[in-house]
Amino acid sequence: MSRLLVRNIGELCTCDSERGDAPGVVKSAALIAEDGVLTYVGEERGLTRSLEVDTEIDVDGRSVIPGFVDAHTHIVWLGERSAEYAQRAAGVSYEQIALGDGGIATTVRATTAGTVDALTAAAAERARRMRSCGTTTVEVKSGYGIDTKSEVRQLEAASAVRALPGVPDIVTTYLPLHATPDGEHDKHVQSVIDTGIAEARDRATFIDVFCDPMAYSVDECERVLVAAQNQGMRAKVHAEQRSRNGGALLAARLGAVSADHLEHAEDGDLRSLAAASVVCVLLPGAALVLGGPPPPGRRALEAGATIAIATDCNPGTCFCESMPLMMSLAVATAGITPAQALVAATAGGAAALSLSDRGVLRTGKRCDVALLTTPHWMDCAYHMGGDVVGGTLVAGESTLR
Ligand code: NIG
Ligand code: FE
Repeated sequence: MSRLLVRNIGELCTCDSERGDAPGVVKSAALIAEDGVLTYVGEERGLTRSLEVDTEIDVDGRSVIPGFVDAHTHIVWLGERSAEYAQRAAGVSYEQIALGDGGIATTVRATTAGTVDALTAAAAERARRMRSCGTTTVEVKSGYGIDTKSEVRQLEAASAVRALPGVPDIVTTYLPLHATPDGEHDKHVQSVIDTGIAEARDRATFIDVFCDPMAYSVDECERVLVAAQNQGMRAKVHAEQRSRNGGALLAARLGAVSADHLEHAEDGDLRSLAAASVVCVLLPGAALVLGGPPPPGRRALEAGATIAIATDCNPGTCFCESMPLMMSLAVATAGITPAQALVAATAGGAAALSLSDRGVLRTGKRCDVALLTTPHWMDCAYHMGGDVVGGTLVAGESTLR
């Protein structure tokens, strides 16, 4: 058994609702982990003096928070789209670029041509940057292939990243309805149902769909999600991102684990999601880059929903690995407080991935932790774009710098 002690913590944010007001701060704190699992979380003076430890980390009064759980990303891609980014900045819309065979299709062309090794290397670089920004678990989607073979290669690359050093823990999601084929829309949907899901289900925990007029209809999404649920996968939906077209109500009806984006969701949609215990995943970076309405942070909380914050890291709508920056953007645009943002970026992310072993710092949970560079926990949402994370522990394994 290996015992780790982290001590001299100025403010320990547990994000544990049992500790009172969010984010459940304990001052002058310490934590102990044994074989990567927390066995003590509390005031340092509550520790037994004679305790023997294998590793001791003195954080010198700085703050400690749960590692971020980034519950929505598309980091397995090749090629790049900076020219499209500049075009959009000059006034061309995301939809216009997609109609001209750009957008997601640009990334599909580059990504489907890549080997698993090339995909793994590209994703690993992004995953390492995520961890250096404090992320200890990341969800990774496929979605840049049309055929199942290419989608499976992306899922294999995501799984290969999991075994590399210095990356967050990885959860995989099959996203077969995202890119659209030239014509043959129905044939694609049918082939996902007939063969794609069976190929993907051992390689991914979740299935996701892009429910949008520029992608797939509610009916197409429903057919694919139901088929996948029947084969043991849990559903997620890219919903109400560019317009309101029923993706949120679909997610509620099917008992999806999360509905993501939701910028165009109405209050009734959010109440339906809350009633069905569907987590609302806010993606404030993508909303800002695309220039639409902000994510409905406060509205979702008022509707009684659990919220998560994620990066959506992808080459089109948000090329960003930083969860602290997403928290800052959520506070600035989505009507939530820094404490709500921190809980959404940790416990909320874990809920959006159905992971009950992380996201809060409590005895019995994984020792997934971000060590801040500052004594004030709030700096991780307040110091916009700041160098706020000094290291992480993933199941007790350290990348301190
Ligand atoms: O979550 N909108 C759909 N999918 C991604 C963007 C993908 C891309 O543009 O490459 C998103 O925003
Ligand atoms: Fe997305």
